[in-house]
Amino acid sequence: MLYDNIEIKNGRLYFAGADTVELAEKYGTPLYLMDENRIRERCREYKSALDSFALEGSCAIYASKACSFGGIYRIIAEEGLGADVVSAGEIFTAKSAGFPMEKAYFQGNNKTDADIRFALDCGVGYFVCDNFEELDALDRIAGERGAVQKILLRVTPGIDPHTYDEVATGKVDSKFGIAVETGQALEAVKSALSKKNLSLEGIHCHVGSMVFDSDVFIRAAAVMLGFAAEIKKVFGFDIKILDLGGGYGVKYYEGQGNIDIPANIKQVAEYVAEKSAELGIKTPSLRLEPGRSIVADAGVTLYTVGSVKKITGYKNYVSIDGGMTDNPRYALYESRYTVITANKADAEPRLTADLVGRCCESGDIIQPAVGFPVDIGRGDIVAVLTTGAYNYSMASNYNRIPRPPIVIVKDGESRVAVKRESLENLIENDVF
Ligand code: LLP
Repeated sequence: MLYDNIEIKNGRLYFAGADTVELAEKYGTPLYLMDENRIRERCREYKSALDSFALEGSCAIYASKACSFGGIYRIIAEEGLGADVVSAGEIFTAKSAGFPMEKAYFQGNNKTDADIRFALDCGVGYFVCDNFEELDALDRIAGERGAVQKILLRVTPGIDPHTYDEVATGKVDSKFGIAVETGQALEAVKSALSKKNLSLEGIHCHVGSMVFDSDVFIRAAAVMLGFAAEIKKVFGFDIKILDLGGGYGVKYYEGQGNIDIPANIKQVAEYVAEKSAELGIKTPSLRLEPGRSIVADAGVTLYTVGSVKKITGYKNYVSIDGGMTDNPRYALYESRYTVITANKADAEPRLTADLVGRCCESGDIIQPAVGFPVDIGRGDIVAVLTTGAYNYSMASNYNRIPRPPIVIVKDGESRVAVKRESLENLIENDVF
């Protein structure tokens, strides 16, 4: 099986030790399942690799855009990770869940004055500043409160991570960060150092997502450390923190490449120590911001089949009770997934059909050309694997479809973590 929390027993799909067909009956579909132990294991992989190989104080920061709800911030906090938050909504969710906000890193390329005030009110530990205007605004607002705010400066190292364009963010022409190559990043350091109410702690980059090449983070670190050396030379200032962002890829289907994350962290950490020594700068403490690789394989989505349409001589469709509203990733990026018919998991997949959703849009495809049992029909349960990242967090109410619930599975037991949205929820803000 694709991951070891997936099993087939007596013709049924089991996830995290639980029978998915029973879970579909109990909670209804569409349904997001999340394997709590798996999330914790992934956190521990990062933590132990950084504790073993990087400078003391180094840590992983969970990029909560991958999947944000109250319970996940509690799990992350218990595992000792920080949290990357990108909006007042994520900050509010984290804070409400009791997350220690001094370990929150506020990212984003356009933080409004209201966002800045809210983040300061909530005690966010670090701002990852993206542009000159933000430095000015944060300095002004922190000053009004008599506070000094810790910041990292987001820069673009000009690295092409060889991934899909929508998620390649570290290139010089990116909307995120300030370019090292053009000299503008050095100007931003000058600006940050001149501000009374800002304390520059380090530099940040994020090269992209779904990275499988083992040298991508080394190449990024090389540029970033070169930049740190330049900062030292020009301003006599040592950065304390080097944040290399997130981006490790995960496997969505058999035959796809993979990357050994702990081994890569070891390589990167060793490189950072050696290169810093060579450049004559203090070795910075490391931050990594994994999102996908913490939660992706901890998630499975279950659907119920409504119709099977066989257009003789053309193609076949299997329609389910969810769609691009709960998983827009094929529609957006043509992302591939592994699909299993959960209640007929032993059957030969001899019928090829597109797995499509119920939205009024032809592009509402979860996955094209999937193999199904020949007798698939109304009432069968279909599971899409590896949906823990960027599914719930990217879900929408298009066509006024309520979002599915999240059920946490742990040691074979299940409980609701996020309730199913109701029809009443959909109209509660309609005041006209
Ligand atoms: N740090 C920053 C600053 C980021 O922008 C991101 C992702 C991460 C960390 C986490 O990257 P990860 O480890 O998850 O690759 N919606 C897209 C992915 C967008 C990623 C955006 N930034 C998808 O579904 O593939």
